[in-house]
Amino acid sequence: MIVFNNKTEIQDHISKKKAKGTTFGFVPTMGALHNGHLSLVKRALEENDVCVVSIFVNPTQFDNVEDLKKYPRTLERDVSLLGTVSKTILVYAPSVQDIYEGNTKAEHFSFDGIEFEMEGKFRQGHFDGVGTIVKRLFEIITPNNAYFGEKDFQQLAIIKKLAQKYKIPVTVKGCEIYREVNGLAYSSRNERLKPEYKKAAPFIFKILTESKERFGTKSAKQVTEWVEKQFAKNKFLELEYFVIAGITTLKNVKRKSKSKQYRAFVAAYADDIRLIDNIALN
Ligand code: PAJ
Repeated sequence: MIVFNNKTEIQDHISKKKAKGTTFGFVPTMGALHNGHLSLVKRALEENDVCVVSIFVNPTQFDNVEDLKKYPRTLERDVSLLGTVSKTILVYAPSVQDIYEGNTKAEHFSFDGIEFEMEGKFRQGHFDGVGTIVKRLFEIITPNNAYFGEKDFQQLAIIKKLAQKYKIPVTVKGCEIYREVNGLAYSSRNERLKPEYKKAAPFIFKILTESKERFGTKSAKQVTEWVEKQFAKNKFLELEYFVIAGITTLKNVKRKSKSKQYRAFVAAYADDIRLIDNIALN
């Protein structure tokens, strides 16, 4: 395991190896690693000679100062966890200075409107921050392949657009959502859940699974109303949004078409912790 804190050092290391034909798979993270992250790392190791994992809590993608402050920072633990998967992983754990060089601001991006849906509506400026950091990381790491979880499906779609628009020579690959046995999607935020909320949280996946069944025979509106009712009865979880959307536009579906693919998306608060999840409907 080599841990780099400095972009010039990791760039040097990577460019020497790339000159010899070594391929690089990249998994960007904000740390507090869990099995969801590790599933991406394992896939990157399978499909590339070397896997690079970045660990950086990116300030420009947080719209809430408290959330940024409370975000878990567990670098030592993260590095040893990665070591249990493979000793060959390269870790890039930069400081804010190394990335932003004294100007901690997001660039502004246009992603054909998908940035205004769901997460974009509820987290102001979030995707400008994500676009800014991922673009910089792509420039530093110059990976052949980059791995993103479908857990953040909208983010994955945005990163694909980013690579296309800026002609970044990377293949962006989506990876399935990795879940606990009870269905709860792994998330760095789960660790902050108090026991009663942790127990209540698998309800989100249960409802998503049931909405998938209902979507076979009911309209998007009917399914949405049903979901909203179920959440209203749950005293531990407060629904922020439930949206059934086409997978390319990410816009709320008005009328179902057999030829299109849809997903259902949820954001809900468990106490003060915001959880998101989604499922393919057809
Ligand atoms: P983070 O939340 O740490 O997630 C890093 C990557 O792990 C993302 O691609 C995310 O979708 C994926 N991931 C998280 N939980 C997962 C799960 N249960 N199953 C599968 N994949 C999962 O997403 C970010 O960081 C940041 O926005 C980042 C892209 C690093 C930019 O700062």
